[in-house]
Amino acid sequence: MESGMFSGGPDEWFEDVGRRTLAACIENGLMPDHRVLDIGAGSLRVGWWLVHYIEPTNYHAIEPVRDRLDAAAEILGAPIHLYYNTNFDFPDVEFDFVLARSIWTHASKPMISKMLAEFARKSAPRAKFLTSVIYAVTPDEDYDGVDWVGKVLKNDPSGGVKHSGDWIRAECAKHDLSVEEVGDLHGQTWLRIEHAPRESGPAPAGSRERGSR
Ligand SMILES: C[S@@+](CC[C@H](N)C(=O)[O-])C[C@H]1O[C@@H](n2cnc3c(N)ncnc32)[C@H](O)[C@@H]1O
Repeated sequence: MESGMFSGGPDEWFEDVGRRTLAACIENGLMPDHRVLDIGAGSLRVGWWLVHYIEPTNYHAIEPVRDRLDAAAEILGAPIHLYYNTNFDFPDVEFDFVLARSIWTHASKPMISKMLAEFARKSAPRAKFLTSVIYAVTPDEDYDGVDWVGKVLKNDPSGGVKHSGDWIRAECAKHDLSVEEVGDLHGQTWLRIEHAPRESGPAPAGSRERGSR
């Protein structure tokens, strides 16, 4: 980018990833009245598109690189919610849609576990969590470190990690979540994670329509 900011991936993909990620969100259930969390929102590559579809006040972004997020938010000029934590703590909101684009491709297994635990606790019953991943094909590729791998700041070394489908499915099941492959974009597979269906009778009278299971 001209500003010298890390854009979140190759600069030539900036618009395409934003545009097509919004499309993937809509195809996977995003509605205009949803409350959305964008984990590792970076320079709002996707956030810019999201807030042209949802209410800006329903958009929440976590990004530890404060300057990057603040600069993008200033350009956007909309009333969005910004958080700068590094431990994947979700704000205390019942989210309808959570997005992690190009995040599990850098995050460790304990970090992914934390995101799943937070999603399980802080989301509506019919919420969706759309995340992108590159699968490990061999056991050697399956990342077992604890650190983030890849750029945080512009000049950090590049790099990425892979996780096996078996581990992801088992980890989702631990949190009573289901997971389904729903497409791909620029070499990363989209996964849609949801609360696993409960065996239950009819919904109790007066239960919330938006987001109720
Ligand atoms: C590859 S970029 C993707 C950015 C954005 N999701 C997108 O698709 O444009 C990864 C982002 O995750 C951020 N990040 C790094 N550690 C994080 C953490 N602990 N919690 C949340 N985001 C983090 C980085 O600063 C960076 O902005």
